[in-house]
Amino acid sequence: MKALEDIDSQIFALIKQEEKRTASTLEMIPSNNYPSKAVLEALGSILNYKYSEGYPKKRYYQGQRIADQVEILAQERAKKLFGVPHANVQPYSGSPANTAVYFALLEPFKDKIMGLSLAYGGHLTHGSPVSFSGKYFKVVPYQLGKDGRFDYEEIEKLAIAEKPKIIVCGATAYPRIIDFKRFGQIADKVGAYLLADISHIAGLIIAGVHPSPVDHAHIIMTTTHKTLRGPRGAMIMVTEKGLKKDPELGNKIDKAVFPGLQGGPHDNQTAAIAVALRLASGKQFKVYIEHVVRNAKVLAQELVKFNFKLVSGGTDNHLLLIDLSNKKVNGAVAALALEVAGIVINKNAVPGDLMPPFYPSGIRLGTPAITTRGMKEREMVKIANWINETINEVSNRVLPANKEQRKEFFKNFREEVFKNKKLLQIAKEVRELCSKFP
Ligand SMILES: Cc1ncc(COP(=O)(O)O)c(C=O)c1O
Repeated sequence: MKALEDIDSQIFALIKQEEKRTASTLEMIPSNNYPSKAVLEALGSILNYKYSEGYPKKRYYQGQRIADQVEILAQERAKKLFGVPHANVQPYSGSPANTAVYFALLEPFKDKIMGLSLAYGGHLTHGSPVSFSGKYFKVVPYQLGKDGRFDYEEIEKLAIAEKPKIIVCGATAYPRIIDFKRFGQIADKVGAYLLADISHIAGLIIAGVHPSPVDHAHIIMTTTHKTLRGPRGAMIMVTEKGLKKDPELGNKIDKAVFPGLQGGPHDNQTAAIAVALRLASGKQFKVYIEHVVRNAKVLAQELVKFNFKLVSGGTDNHLLLIDLSNKKVNGAVAALALEVAGIVINKNAVPGDLMPPFYPSGIRLGTPAITTRGMKEREMVKIANWINETINEVSNRVLPANKEQRKEFFKNFREEVFKNKKLLQIAKEVRELCSKFP
């Protein structure tokens, strides 16, 4: 069979360019990570071709002897690693997984979801009005306290007043430990299901550096491609507590995934999830995750020395959220300047942000991918320096309030920033560092 290069030179060239781009820059978007070659091998395997609608030993097509074993292995590994009695490994990704949980338990336009507001670090699927979750279900959003942390008393008061059917705890941009026990007590008090969305911190939980929700939540959902370092995908797990509340919970979730929401599972993805779970159960993974967190803490300490304002004052996990308002730099300006300097992060709203989501006041960055490359404390000190120099270089550019003027500002800024000598010098130094960590 001909190779990709011979069949489609355009796509081949783009893949090579992406390999080069990511190899020569610092990937610091906290949700991104590099999977192992073993994971990619499973993902690109023959298992891609097969339709396996249904579940192991209950399929709608023949020829499932191998597919069944693959899926059972993935389920068993997930169950063992997270300590749960039921795991569904078929969700195509995190958003359909959360959707399936809602479909399993809620009546559309009637039942309520209570989740962290997007503006405060929640995910779109936690009830944002622009996502299906906010359109098809009633939503009660909660916010963070003034200190940038969960205000459990306020959350409890809101839950008692609103009586949601599901409380979602978990976030996309929360740098602190989540008190799952407290969330569990709140859910129990109002008779709600607690869905712990651990997409970002699944790896930390496996490695024991973040408490597990297993004794407190009824359902645990995680994506498999972030700190877990697997393929893009997701899993929904039901805990003992969940089965106690509702012995049919596992069946309800399975039916909501298939046939409720999805068709055939992606067996290649399931195999790659199984590989990632196997890798995550080893000692090396624990050492890796401990380094992810240590690196994030060092980065935080160094940035604080440069007077960066970290939301909540620091980090307990793999990510940092920085409010740039004291630096007089908008998050969108900072994100572009950092990209030119070879540091890839994302602009992000900060709690109580008055700016629109496209021009938020902050940035979010994390250490999972650069730690996968083997970077440690010494490199974090260098990176903090580069971030500081980059932000200083673009500070005091006031973003116009007028929409049209803002567009014009960005057009001019884009032309100018790609020629900025200081940033290009940093990018060169970043490339040199990256070449030591392939
Ligand atoms: C907390 C959380 N939940 C769900 C998702 C959705 O995952 P996906 O992008 O795979 O649909 C994300 C993705 O960023 C997330 O951070």
